[in-house]
Amino acid sequence: MEATTTSLPEGRMPVLRVMPMPADANVHGDVFGGWIMSQVDIAGSLPAVRRANGRVATVAVNSFVFKQPVFVGDLLSFYADVVKVGRTSITVFVEVYAQRNRLVDEVVKVTEATLTYVATDEDRQPRPLPPG
Ligand SMILES: CC(C)(COP(=O)(O)OP(=O)(O)OC[C@H]1O[C@@H](n2cnc3c(N)ncnc32)[C@H](O)[C@@H]1OP(=O)(O)O)[C@@H](O)C(=O)NCCC(=O)NCCS
Repeated sequence: MEATTTSLPEGRMPVLRVMPMPADANVHGDVFGGWIMSQVDIAGSLPAVRRANGRVATVAVNSFVFKQPVFVGDLLSFYADVVKVGRTSITVFVEVYAQRNRLVDEVVKVTEATLTYVATDEDRQPRPLPPG
């Protein structure tokens, strides 16, 4: 269990912010893990597309940890950084923070994941990355 903090990471800009709605909940009323995974995939792809200067495909989810539950109405902020670059691949670390009750500024880290994307060409084949 991670301690509640009082602020989002300083000096960093989220690549994506989104609020889950009731349609994103599981049968218990909390947010469905698959919904969070798809948002993380989108968030991670943003720096990957920038680094690849074009289209990418997700080739692997290397790790994915749900540290805390996410509730309908949380304001989620996704931070994504390129941590490794290969010939055609880009690995991105994604962190997700939830602002649970925006009136009292409760912030919780809810998810951490590492994903690998591959730069692809028009035929969906791996493409060498442009110089960094
Ligand atoms: C992505 C894809 C084009 C890669 O094609 P491929 O023939 O497997 O390519 P390669 O074996 O040459 O690997 C390409 C790169 O991915 C990396 N890679 C492949 N499998 C990996 C894995 N399981 N984990 C991490 N990296 C992996 C390779 O190391 C290589 O990186 P490098 O060029 O930086 O050294 C192909 O696997 C594909 O189309 N997959 C489906 C992608 C997709 O549709 N994703 C959306 C979800 S359905």
